[in-house]
Amino acid sequence: MDTKILVVDNDKSLLQNCKSVLETEGYAVDYCMSHSEAESLFKNNDYVLMMIYMPECYAETVQLIRSARSVRPGMLISAVSDAPSHGSLKSAVAAGAKNYLRAPVAQPQIIAEAKKAVSRAAEGHSCCSDITPEILAGLDEIIKNNKSRQGALIPVLQAAQELIGYLPVDVLKRVASGLDIPESEVHGVVSFYSIFTMKPKGRHNIRVCLGTACYVKGSEEIVKKISEELKLDVGGMTEDKKFSLETVRCLGACGLAPVLVVGKETFGDVHAKDVMNLLKQFE
Ligand code: FES
Repeated sequence: MDTKILVVDNDKSLLQNCKSVLETEGYAVDYCMSHSEAESLFKNNDYVLMMIYMPECYAETVQLIRSARSVRPGMLISAVSDAPSHGSLKSAVAAGAKNYLRAPVAQPQIIAEAKKAVSRAAEGHSCCSDITPEILAGLDEIIKNNKSRQGALIPVLQAAQELIGYLPVDVLKRVASGLDIPESEVHGVVSFYSIFTMKPKGRHNIRVCLGTACYVKGSEEIVKKISEELKLDVGGMTEDKKFSLETVRCLGACGLAPVLVVGKETFGDVHAKDVMNLLKQFE
């Protein structure tokens, strides 16, 4: 699949130059001079990078950056300016631009920016490829419906996790900015409460209890067996996203030890030799 880049500028010759540099490097490049065209392009194309020129009157450009960040959270947005003011850069960054490039941008810099965007996208795709614009719209709705409520953070995070399955960094950032609270506070809450997870889960999340009662009855062997058979580390997910594996400390069902929970179903008196059979029922 082509690696796509969008360039937005008000100078056609610069756009064409940028396009030819990037195309020589193998990227697929769209360029445009109007903001409405840019908006329609990034809504319909999965760009890794948008390079956008910041004119002297930058309010509309900032608005476009904000919209692009909202629609394509994984896309690198680089603001280009030949006369950057502190205000314009601050606004561009607050809206979602990650980098600033001083115009005119030299060829090696253009190429370096594209490479940076590709590696950023690769990192992002490993954790956030399942976050579609529709999911983001759902998340925004959750934030909007709870914003005026006191103590909105935890219910918003719960609803977001229910919607997405986990809470990746970009979602935490969006919640923080949507509720007007510091990102550090959102991270703090997510790491404090064990109900929240920042790691993606499989369709069936397996939780094996390693509390004392379960441990002495061999629950560690269950973990080992699942790990070996499914080639799955604790905290990880199988390649087909079918199973993820966690260990927990006491599920409050010690009388059934050793205990295993798959999704919402609890299984007691489970033994390592039987566990793979038990998992067969999950599609
Ligand atoms: S120790 Fe496993 S359920 Fe309590």
